[in-house]
This record gives sequence, structure tokens and C-alpha cells, in this order.
Amino acid sequence: MTRLAIITGASSGIGAACAGQFREQGFMVINISRRECPVDGVVNVCGDLGEVTSANALGQRLVEAIEQHTPTSVCVVHNAALMLKDSVADTADSDLERVIQINVVAINALNRHLLPLLPTSSSLLFIGSTLSEKAVAGAFSYVVSKHAQLGMMRATCQDLMGKGIHTALICPGFTDTEMLRGHVGHNQEIIAAISELNSFGRLVDPHEIASLVTWCHDNPVINGSVLHANLGQVEN
Ligand SMILES: NC(=O)c1ccc[n+]([C@@H]2O[C@H](COP(=O)([O-])OP(=O)(O)OC[C@H]3O[C@@H](n4cnc5c(N)ncnc54)[C@H](OP(=O)(O)O)[C@@H]3O)[C@@H](O)[C@H]2O)c1
Repeated sequence: MTRLAIITGASSGIGAACAGQFREQGFMVINISRRECPVDGVVNVCGDLGEVTSANALGQRLVEAIEQHTPTSVCVVHNAALMLKDSVADTADSDLERVIQINVVAINALNRHLLPLLPTSSSLLFIGSTLSEKAVAGAFSYVVSKHAQLGMMRATCQDLMGKGIHTALICPGFTDTEMLRGHVGHNQEIIAAISELNSFGRLVDPHEIASLVTWCHDNPVINGSVLHANLGQVEN
């Protein structure tokens, strides 16, 4: 009985933490990213989700993996993302297209390849963001793409009625990863300040998000849900 987790962007951060927890639970894990996943035993299907042809080729390689292993359950975690610093006043079309390709279109390409092969009790889980349901200044293309993921998840839920496959959008708050630290220029003062923007005065640990992801796979009752995981973020 093979249970399979397919995780995009498991080379670091939340994706790597998910890979570790699925491995601990006995899943076969496939990572899709440009770098390899640091977790032992993970199968790396390396490639760039930012290229249309590459995303489709990656989808085809996943089809071959599923046909080879005939898993009884598959959890697909759409986690890889690109975050730029930009605004409505200065976002080049090409930058918006790049972000949408990785954060939205590549998800569609992978789903289109995988869906015909997913057994019942599979799940399609999207890693969204607090910025799937609100906006902040200076993250224009990212906010647009994360709102699009919310629509994708809800439309996916409706289109898969009766198929025995569930979906959810998991929305991390400020989480201690390369993406967050890079976005604030590795500035410790900013990291300390944003750590205070929730009721626990710290960043979310990627393993906390991973626990929620594995739980979501096991609990189809949450089908179609948006789950915020941000330690109780201060609203402003
Ligand atoms: N950290 C936060 O505070 C936070 C908050 C809300 C939501 N999130 C969401 O959490 C998810 C994971 O982010 P993270 O914080 O864990 O960041 P991270 O550590 O920087 O991980 C991002 C992952 O995405 C992959 N990726 C990026 N571009 C790619 C491409 N063109 N092709 C293939 N893979 C690509 C990276 O792999 P390679 O570089 O190896 O290709 C990496 O594994 C994202 O969806 C992000 O929007 C994060």
C-alpha cells in the first residue's frame, strides 16, 4: 500500500518540513523544485515551474511515477511560489506573468496531468498566504497570485464533487523561511518587529504548517476550506 505525497518546492522551508513529516508517516515523497530536497528518502524530480514547457514535462514525469507505484492515496501539496517586491504602479507585465506562471499556471498544469490518475482519498492542498484574503503594499504580483489560488481551490472543490478527492487552502502567516528572510533583506530588526505581529510574539515554525498539511490530507471534512495558520495575527 503506497501512499504518495507530491510536494512542489520541498527544497526548503515549508515544503521541506512537509516532506519530512510525510516521510515520518511512511509516505513515498516526490519533490518538484530546481534544487533537491534535504530530507532523506525523498525522490527529486528537479525542474523549473517557471517555464511552461518544463511544468508540463514535470507533470508528465509525475504521471509516470504514479503509474509505476499505483498509490492508494496521493496528497498533492502546491507549495512552490515566487514573491517579488512590486506595486500596482511599477509591475512589468513580464514580472506579473512570471509570478502567475509559478504560483498559478504551473499548479493547473500539474493538476491537469495528475487528476485522471488520483485514487479516491487523495487531496489537492494549496499553500496560500494571509495575502490570499487581504493585501499589503509592495507585494502586488504576489497578492494577485495568492488571491487567484483561493479561487482555484474553491473552483477545484466544486469541479471535483463526488470524486472522493478533497482540497483546501492553507494560509501561513509570517513563517521562518528563506522566502520571508529574503523578502526583508535578512534584516533582524524587521524580523523582530514582524514576530511581534501575532499573539505569541514569534514567527511560525515551518513544521507547524507541515503538521496542518498532513492533518488536512487525513481529514476530508475540511474540503473547500481556507485555513489560516498565523498564531493570531494583529489586524491593521
Ligand atoms: N514564509 C512565509 O512567511 C510565508 C507566508 C505565507 C505563505 N507562504 C507560502 O509558503 C510557501 C512556501 O514558501 P516558503 O516560505 O517555505 O519559502 P522558501 O523556503 O523560499 O521555499 C520556496 C520553494 O519554492 C520553490 N520554487 C520557487 N520557484 C520555483 C520554480 N521556478 N520552480 C520550482 N520550484 C520553485 C523553491 O525551490 P527551488 O528554489 O529549489 O526551485 C523552494 O523550495 C509559498 O507558497 C509561500 O507563498 C510563506
